[in-house]
Amino acid sequence: MDKVLILDYGSQYTQLIARRIREQNVYSEIQPFNYGIDKIRAFAPKAIVLSGGPASVLGKDAPGLDLKILELGVPILGICYGIQLLAHHLGGKVTPSNKREYGRATFEADAGSPLFRGVKAKSVVWMSHGDSLEKIPAGFHKIGESDNTPFCAIADPGKKIYGVQFHPEVVHTEEGVQILHNFLFHIAGLKADWNMAAFLQTEKEKIRAQVGKGKVICGLSGGVDSTVAALLIHEAVGDQLECIFINNGLLRKDEAQKVQDTFREHFKIKLHYVDASERFLSRLKGVTDPEQKRKIIGNEFIYVFEEMAKQIQDAKFLAQGTLYPDVIESVSFKGPSATIKSHHNVGGLPERMGLALVEPLRELFKDEVRELGAQMGMPKALTHRQPFPGPGLAIRILGEVTPEAIRLLQEADDILVSEIKFADWYYKVWQSFAVLLPIKTVGVMGDERTYENVLAVRCVSSVDGMTADWVPLPSDLLGRISNRIINEVRGINRVVYDISSKPPATIEWE
Ligand code: XMP
Repeated sequence: MDKVLILDYGSQYTQLIARRIREQNVYSEIQPFNYGIDKIRAFAPKAIVLSGGPASVLGKDAPGLDLKILELGVPILGICYGIQLLAHHLGGKVTPSNKREYGRATFEADAGSPLFRGVKAKSVVWMSHGDSLEKIPAGFHKIGESDNTPFCAIADPGKKIYGVQFHPEVVHTEEGVQILHNFLFHIAGLKADWNMAAFLQTEKEKIRAQVGKGKVICGLSGGVDSTVAALLIHEAVGDQLECIFINNGLLRKDEAQKVQDTFREHFKIKLHYVDASERFLSRLKGVTDPEQKRKIIGNEFIYVFEEMAKQIQDAKFLAQGTLYPDVIESVSFKGPSATIKSHHNVGGLPERMGLALVEPLRELFKDEVRELGAQMGMPKALTHRQPFPGPGLAIRILGEVTPEAIRLLQEADDILVSEIKFADWYYKVWQSFAVLLPIKTVGVMGDERTYENVLAVRCVSSVDGMTADWVPLPSDLLGRISNRIINEVRGINRVVYDISSKPPATIEWE
C-alpha cells in the first residue's frame, strides 16, 4: 500500500490534508514535524507533505526541517509554512511581510507545471500567512503567483519538490482537490489502493498480531465508535472479546434492552450487562448543579466498570473507540505532543489493571468509522446514530434527576425521535432531542386545570458539535411532536422550541 506522511507543523488544517488525501484513496498519516528520520524510513512513505503552521521560520524557536528527509528522494509538497520552510532551509529567503494575507486570493497557475495539470489559469485560493518568499532557492522556479505573493507556488521538478503558499486542503481553494490529485498521482505516481475494505483486512491482522491469544475487554456505550470498535475486534479475534455495558439509568427509553439484543442476538458478542441505575440515581439525589452531575456520573461509571472488569478473568487488553481527532493534537510551538485526551481512558483503569490499550479506530475520522461499520454489516440506524452525551438524560433534566423526571423525559424523547425519523429528518440533523424543564405552567385539559412541566425541543445542525445552528423544522412536524407529547405524556402540558445557535448557547442545556 502506498502511504503519504504528513509532517505536522501545527496548522489548524493539518487533519484536513489527511482527509483530502484519503478521499483520493491513498493512505495518509500525520506525525509531528520532528518525527525521527529512522521512523520515517521505517514508515516508508511514497510522498511527504509538510503542513502549514502558526510559527514564522524566522522565529528563534521555529520548528525546523531535517534535511535528511530531502535525501530520501521522495516527492515533497510544502504547504504554507511548509513552502517557507523549504525556501528557508534550501538557500532561499523568507521575509516578514508588512501585510498579513488571510482569506481569499486569486492565484495564477503556470499551466506547464504537473502540479497544476487541469487547473484553471486563474482560481480562488485560501491564504493564511504573515511571511513571504523573497528569493527562491537554487534549482527551484516559480510556478504560480497571486497579487500579494509573487512566489505563491514553486517547484524543483527534478527532485520532485513542490511548495504552495495557499492551502489546497480547504474547500475555499477552488482547485485544491485537483492540485492534491496532481501531486499524488502525476508527480508522486501513487496507486489509489486504500479503501475501507482494505483497511478492514489490515486492521484485523494488526489486532490479531497485537492481541495474540489474550482476552480483550471493551466498554460499550451504545454509540457508533464503541460499537464499531467492538465489532471489528470481534471479527478479528471472536470470543476473545468480552464487552461490558453499564445501564446508568439515564439512557433513552428501551435503550438498555436494544443494546443487549443487538450485541447478543445480532452480533453474537459476549456481553456483560449490569443495571446500575439505582447506584447512579442514589448518588444523584438532591444534586442540581450540571458539573456536579457530570462528575458524579463519570466517577460512578469508573467504579462500576472496574468492578465488572475485575470479574473477567485473565483480561490483557482494553479496547477503546478512540478516533483520529482525539489522537492528534496540534503540535503548535510546543513541539510534538500527540496526546491522547485523558477522558478517553477509563479513569486510569488500563494502568491500574495492567491492561494494554487496543484502539483500532485511532487512524479514522468519524465518517470513516461509519463507513467501516457499514462494511461490517451494521445497519444505518446504528452507523448514523446521533451523538448522545455520556451523562445521558441527566444533563437534559434541568434540576434534580428523579425517577419520575427520567420517565417523563424518556417518554417524550421517544415520541420526538420517532416523529423526527418518520418525517425523515433524523439523519439530516446533528442532534434532535428533548429537555425537561423544572418549570410548571398552567394548562387546561378537558374541563380541568393542569399544572405540569414544560418540555423544550432542540434540533440542531452541526459539522462537529463545536458550532451549531437551530434547524427550522416544518411547523406541521413541530405541531405533531407537540400534540403527541402533550396528549400522551402525563405530566407535560406545554412544549416549546429552542431557537438558539451555538455560540452563544450550547447544544445541551446543561
Ligand atoms: P455542547 O452542549 O457543549 O455539546 O454544545 C457539544 C456536543 O457534545 C455533547 N456533549 C457531551 N458528550 N459528555 C459527552 O459525552 C458530556 O458531558 C457532554 N456534554 C455535551 C453534546 O451532546 C453535543 O453533541
